[in-house]
Amino acid sequence: MSHVETDPAVSAKVDTYLGEVLNLTDPVLDAVLAANAAAGLPPIDVSAAQGRMLALFVAMTGAKRVLEIGALGGYSTICLARALPAGGQVVTIEREAAHAEVARRNFERAGMADRIDLRVGAALDVLPTLEGPFDLVFVDADKLNNPGYFDWALRLSRPGTTIVFDNVIRSGAVADTGSADPNVQGSQAALRLLGNHPRLRATAIQTVGAKGWDGFALAVVGE
Ligand code: DHB
Ligand code: MG
Repeated sequence: MSHVETDPAVSAKVDTYLGEVLNLTDPVLDAVLAANAAAGLPPIDVSAAQGRMLALFVAMTGAKRVLEIGALGGYSTICLARALPAGGQVVTIEREAAHAEVARRNFERAGMADRIDLRVGAALDVLPTLEGPFDLVFVDADKLNNPGYFDWALRLSRPGTTIVFDNVIRSGAVADTGSADPNVQGSQAALRLLGNHPRLRATAIQTVGAKGWDGFALAVVGE
């Protein structure tokens, strides 16, 4: 049964409204989306409102070193980078060389290239080469490898580090514990790991809007 509260057309319209009333529209981010579309990247970036939320997480936590797993065309990377204080840095990992090239041009377009360290390769190969700690980790890559990304996020953390996973709701499919969808299973694995680790306090928040029904998991690393 459909409810007006979660009608996708209505929630997309609300995102448009929020973009206007909150001044989320941004010519640079629009140009990033246009470049991504021209290069054939899938339009699975975070929304404008979600990108602003990620930026606010950086501001709220005072993060100076941010790790992103999964850059795609770098939309969220730019949102994170813009919120950094002077001297801050985002290390972002992208497996697809073609996507990384698009992202690199987008970082230059946004004037953020000097604070983004883009590593090209499979994240599970790149992560062991990084030095922690990071203050905030945003996990937004292939969902199948979420357990490995969870391990590395923790290993590269310090007490107080914020860990964010994207796409943990998947149109509600996450609640289907018998799901055969590997993406859903990856999201479920991330939630189980976040919920059961003795050093983590975690939650997940469902979102609707231009990107449909999905959500973010959030956790803070304790002592
Ligand atoms: C998918 C991945 C994402 O990171 C996202 O934000 C939306 C969809 C996907 O693989 O389907
Ligand atoms: Mg995502």
